Amino acid sequence: MRKGKRRGPIGSVHPVKLRCRRIRTVLQEDIIISIDHSDDPSMNMFPEDFAWGASTAAYQIEGGWDADGKGESIWDAFCHRDDSSVFERHTGDVSCNSYQLWEEDLRCIEELGLTHYRLSLSWSRLLPDGTTGHVNQQGVRYYNQLLDGLLARGVTPMVTLYHFDLPQALQDRGGWQSPDTPALFDAYARFCFGAFGDRVRLWITLNEPYVCAKLGHEDGLHAPGVRGAGGVAAYRAGHHMLRAHALAWHSYDAGYRREQGGLVSMAINSDWAEPEDADSAEDAAAAARYLAFSLGWFAWPLFVSGDYPEVMRAAVDARLPRFSGDQPAALGTADFFALNYYTARKVRSVGVDGGAPSMKTDLGAEGVVDPAWPLCGLPWLAVAPQGLRQLLKYIKATFNHPAVYITENGFAQTGPVLMEDGERAAFYRETVGEVAKAIEEDGVDVCGYFAWSLLDNFEWADGYSARFGLFHVDFSDDERARTMYRSGREYAAIISKHRSRSRAHRELTSS
Ligand code: GAL
Repeated sequence: MRKGKRRGPIGSVHPVKLRCRRIRTVLQEDIIISIDHSDDPSMNMFPEDFAWGASTAAYQIEGGWDADGKGESIWDAFCHRDDSSVFERHTGDVSCNSYQLWEEDLRCIEELGLTHYRLSLSWSRLLPDGTTGHVNQQGVRYYNQLLDGLLARGVTPMVTLYHFDLPQALQDRGGWQSPDTPALFDAYARFCFGAFGDRVRLWITLNEPYVCAKLGHEDGLHAPGVRGAGGVAAYRAGHHMLRAHALAWHSYDAGYRREQGGLVSMAINSDWAEPEDADSAEDAAAAARYLAFSLGWFAWPLFVSGDYPEVMRAAVDARLPRFSGDQPAALGTADFFALNYYTARKVRSVGVDGGAPSMKTDLGAEGVVDPAWPLCGLPWLAVAPQGLRQLLKYIKATFNHPAVYITENGFAQTGPVLMEDGERAAFYRETVGEVAKAIEEDGVDVCGYFAWSLLDNFEWADGYSARFGLFHVDFSDDERARTMYRSGREYAAIISKHRSRSRAHRELTSS
């Protein structure tokens, strides 16, 4: 436990409201001209306190996999397997070495001019065996330094408690298949709220439970590597993650919110989905199913009904766990909508083949890439910024107009490194333009945008073959030198324009 609470002197904690302020920074014409933003009308649309961020995750950047008392996580174990399926058997053992080079990360954050930085805590660095029975003080010290460093630079942290890296000790007890894991997660969450909550106002409990459930417990591509579990294990894992989230949210609400005044949500990922044939009722229903089985799987329980979407219940039937009335309700346990968006799909209906149950046959739909959308690096990553606007509109309509943070969005490069990455720079420009339209034309309450990622890093099953960074990281160099890509300069310029506009607006309204 850290001794005593430090508040204030290390930097101000920015207050956040339950709804982000819907103030538009539309300035008087003469101010616009005098600070020369006439080239970029989209910059008018962002609320003054909009969060401009970038995201990372512990396993993907920290390295130090067994340093200073850290316990093993399921990703350590997965990458160390003799039959590892990760690209060229890469591991996160060292990665960007942010465990030692965190001050370099702060420099990168400053260089970009970010207002916010989303990081995740490594559960097994803090609690090596996953339980609060033993706290690794060196881990606590590491995150204290990082959080203090952010606040000292005026950067607001958004902290994810769980980004795919379950302590292996808990996996040995059943992991997300075990009904005991939610309570263990809740104890870990309470530990973190107590240790860091004096400086953190934006919490994400779990990152992308969809990916963790499906890729980790059905496709076997992610840790813990469960494959072909007949459409059972993934739903069970997802259910336990929802329960874990609900417990942690209620713990925060009851025990910490009054003093700490923060907000808690879960980061939900989804493609945008639209019918392949706009005139086909089957394709329209398939696209709706596609959204229900990704976004809806986790958003319905939190925002709509406390249960899974009807269409999932109907298709999966007895294999989909039930929420029980004597457990804390999931409904209402998201203080904002945290969305990870990467790509879009055209969706067609496909018949059930009558084979063994699986998530694929439950879905009865197939998503394909529109040939008009360019692919960046990875085969799944069709570039479709317009899909983000569509998804934001859908979220506003379906989930009762929540405040939304886009907690991840990005563009990968593969192959030879391209420092002058004009396509990615254009991608960020275009995407921010789509967010501006969602705010201004569709009235979506978007509070922030976090680029994935601050740094090139360990991209899960793709190892280091896919680079998502705003900064290039030289993995062949012990120093892990970080160098800003052109896309980083582009994003920094977007942020700087907005921030100078906000400053001008503040001066104008306070004079
Ligand atoms: C997300 C994940 C991130 C990152 C990103 C790019 O699913 O949360 O950790 O890897 O994808 O593929």
